[in-house]
Formats: sequence, C-alpha cells, structure tokens
Amino acid sequence: QTGLKDAVSGHFLIGAAINQRQSDGKDANATKVLKRHFNTIVAENCMKSGLLQPRENKFDFRAADRFVDYAEKNGQVPIGHCLIWHSQAPRWFFTDDEGKRVSREVMIERMRKHISTVVGRYKGRIKGWDVVNEAIEDDGSFRRSPFYEIVGEDFIEIAFKAAHEADPDVELYYNDFSMSKPGKRAAVCRLVKRLKDAGCRIDGVGMQSHNGLDYPDLSDYEASIDSFAACGVKVMITELDVNVLPNPRGFGGAAVEQNFEYQKKYNPYTAGLPEDMAEKLRERYKALFDIYRRHSGQISRITLWGISDANSWLNNWPVPGRTNYPLLFDRKYNEKPVVDDIINMYK
Ligand code: G3I
Repeated sequence: QTGLKDAVSGHFLIGAAINQRQSDGKDANATKVLKRHFNTIVAENCMKSGLLQPRENKFDFRAADRFVDYAEKNGQVPIGHCLIWHSQAPRWFFTDDEGKRVSREVMIERMRKHISTVVGRYKGRIKGWDVVNEAIEDDGSFRRSPFYEIVGEDFIEIAFKAAHEADPDVELYYNDFSMSKPGKRAAVCRLVKRLKDAGCRIDGVGMQSHNGLDYPDLSDYEASIDSFAACGVKVMITELDVNVLPNPRGFGGAAVEQNFEYQKKYNPYTAGLPEDMAEKLRERYKALFDIYRRHSGQISRITLWGISDANSWLNNWPVPGRTNYPLLFDRKYNEKPVVDDIINMYK
C-alpha cells in the first residue's frame, strides 16, 4: 500500500516529531504509522539542552541514544532538535554559583562545550541539526534571550561554527515560528546572509508551521518559502500542525479556576470534531500540501509535530487539558481522510 512517504518521494522527506515513549519503542501504533507513512523523525523533546545536560557537565544521553537507535532500527532519517534554544535551556546555563549571570566568555565556553559534546556523540548518525531555535522576534528584531543578552548577536555564528567543527558532514539549520511574517522573513534572510558571509555552514531554514485554520495567510507563507530558497538554503517545514481551537492570549500559566473558565469557553470539541470543522481541517491540509507540491524543488523535508492527535502539544497549550485535532492521524492512530487526498495529489 502506498504511504505518504512513497507518494512524496522524489519531492521531499516526510516525517514526524516523536515523543520519548515512542522512541523508547513503547508505542506500537506509532511505529506502525511511521513505517508505513514516514521516513524521517525528530525528537520532540529528548535532545533539548535541559534534558541532555541538566547539570553542568552531567550529560544524560540515555533517551537520545534510544531515539537514534529507534530511527536506525525503523529506517527513519534522524534529525536533531535543538542545540541552542532559550526556552528549554537549563537555568545553570546562564548563571554562576551565586545565581548571577555569567560573562560572555563563560557563556560561549558553555555553548561550545554543549554543542561539541552533543553533535560529536552522534557524528555520522544524525542527518542535520536545528542549531539555533527561535532567535528572532516577529518584527525582525533579535529576541532578547539570555543567549543574546549575554553573548550578543554573534551567539548564532558561534553556535553554527561549533556544530560544524564537531561534525563537518552534518547539515545545519536555523529554525523558527511565524516565518510568514514579513519582518521575520526579512530578518531570517539577513541572518542567513550574515552566517554565510561569516563563513558558516548553513544548509536550511526550518519553518515551524504551527498553523491554524485561518492563519497564516497562505500567500505570505509561500512568499517566505520563495525568499528563503532565494537565499541559497533548503526550506524545511519542520513543525507542521493545524490548530482547530482558538488561542486567546494571556492565559498561559493561569490559575486553576481561570483554566476551568477557559476550558468551558474555548475547548468546545471534546466530544469530537464536528463535521464542518473536520472538513475545514481537511481543506487546510490540502491547501498546504498543494503549496509544498508546487514548491517541491525548494523544500527538502516536511515534518509534522507529532503523529496522532493524542500526542500533540496542542492538547496542552496554552493551558493543559484541551482536546485538539491538529494532526493527520486521529487519537486511535487511524488515518484522517486527508491522508488519501495528499497521496492522490502527488500521484
Ligand atoms: O516529561 C515531563 C513529566 O515528567 C512531567 O511530569 C510533566 C509536568 O509538567 O512535564 C513533562 O515534560 C513536559 C514535556 O513537554 C514532555 O511532555 C514539559 O513540561 C513541557 O514543557 C514540554 O513541552 C514541550 C515544549 O516544546 C517545551 O519544550 C512540548 O512537548 C513540545 O512539543 C514543544 O515543542 C516546541 C519545539 O521544541 C520548538 N517549537 C515550538 C514547539 C511547540 O511549543
């Protein structure tokens, strides 16, 4: 039977982020879907710095090793995510014993040590790394992360150089969300140019693609694919999903009572997605895969951010306990009708 990977072969790799239970081999349904439909996986969490190096120089590679073994065993191309990201970096990364921020020199040393240890460990086994994740704001300015504040703008170059030194053959990517926004698009293009001018290897730009039913504007999305490709890098759709629930701002970390109110108001589809919504989701995925097909010379990989709706981070964001339907496989790992639509589109 034709799977998604067979349908899109010759265009790009197609895969999914997998969670630790899955890469530990404890989710037979996931393995079955992967083998039939996908040929590349990325670790949803277990290769982030907080998990790999929870304390300085105390690396814990157990879960990440199992992820790479699992990929090899199941014929999946493994992608590494992510070396430098403020959001899941452990607190010690930025502070000294007294809790004060470290100097630029110390920060650079810690970045280099983390990158060379992690990339070096999987040398020759990982196809490519998200080297830096989410360093630019939607308006195109640098995100004021501790990496930026302590090291300065060149923390990105430093990270790419360290990764290249640790494995000269591995592909290196810059990855970010809201990549359709014109300000961000322009800034990412400037960043790619800057990295190239500084003599850094950069193979690709990852467009996370956490989409909704009505965002982003698809012509902006296409414009970004064209712009990144024009910078001389491969485009990767790295964290694809389609959120069917509304996301009013300001509820993150809300109190329990507030969450409860939120659920009543904004989590309306707990009994299943109504038919008209399911149809909208299907049309949205078709529109996206139509864009990918038309831009297939520019795109080298599509990665969904999860296999089944049961696994999606969108069940826990912006508050826990939501029932979301963002992926291509339902909670029982059954294909949604759009899987066949996509396969037929690529025939
Ligand atoms: O594993 C622990 C568990 O032991 C603990 O009891 C529980 C209580 O909070 O937390 C569990 O860890 C959670 C982990 O996901 C695994 O489920 C973390 O709290 C939670 O913060 C973490 O969320 C991840 C998030 O990144 C933050 O790192 C999501 O799964 C993951 O999908 C999400 O992925 C990011 C990409 O890396 C970058 N782009 C955006 C994307 C979505 O936010």
